[in-house]
Amino acid sequence: MEEEIGSGKMKLLFISILTIAAASAQNVEAGKKMFNEYTCYGCHGYSGQNGPGNRLVPMKLTQQGFTNYLRNPPRPNQMPSYSAKVLSDAQVGDIYAFIKTLPDAPKAADIKVLQDIKAEMK
Ligand code: HEC
Repeated sequence: MEEEIGSGKMKLLFISILTIAAASAQNVEAGKKMFNEYTCYGCHGYSGQNGPGNRLVPMKLTQQGFTNYLRNPPRPNQMPSYSAKVLSDAQVGDIYAFIKTLPDAPKAADIKVLQDIKAEMK
């Protein structure tokens, strides 16, 4: 009997985990779409690491800090503001989730071709 209850709970836990995983995957996809549609990429690059805007990867802001920044950028002549009418908190959260998935650039020491060139120049 205890076994049955235990496995029932396990099933429930498993389903919950799957649901959470599916939901967050969807948010990342939605975030990616908005990153393009709202032209974030134009100033921050598709990788979040180039263009005239600041590097967004690795993301150092909390989600709240990120949201505040978008609502009220310190220099709106450089980075436009995105009000809640344009992007809801949930949408901004999706964009944040997407940026969090972007990989950081490799360290120079880990780029073989750079190290080969350095070695040849010695
Ligand atoms: C017209 C160019 C432009 C667009 C479009 C743009 N940004 Fe920016 N962004 C900037 C610039 C420039 C800065 C640095 C501004 C400064 O230092 O005052 C910045 C800074 C930021 C920062 C602060 C980074 C940090 O850690 O200091 C975040 C976060 C950010 N942008 C996110 C976004 C997102 C998300 C979008 C799309 C919804 C977006 N930006 C669209 C130009 C842009």
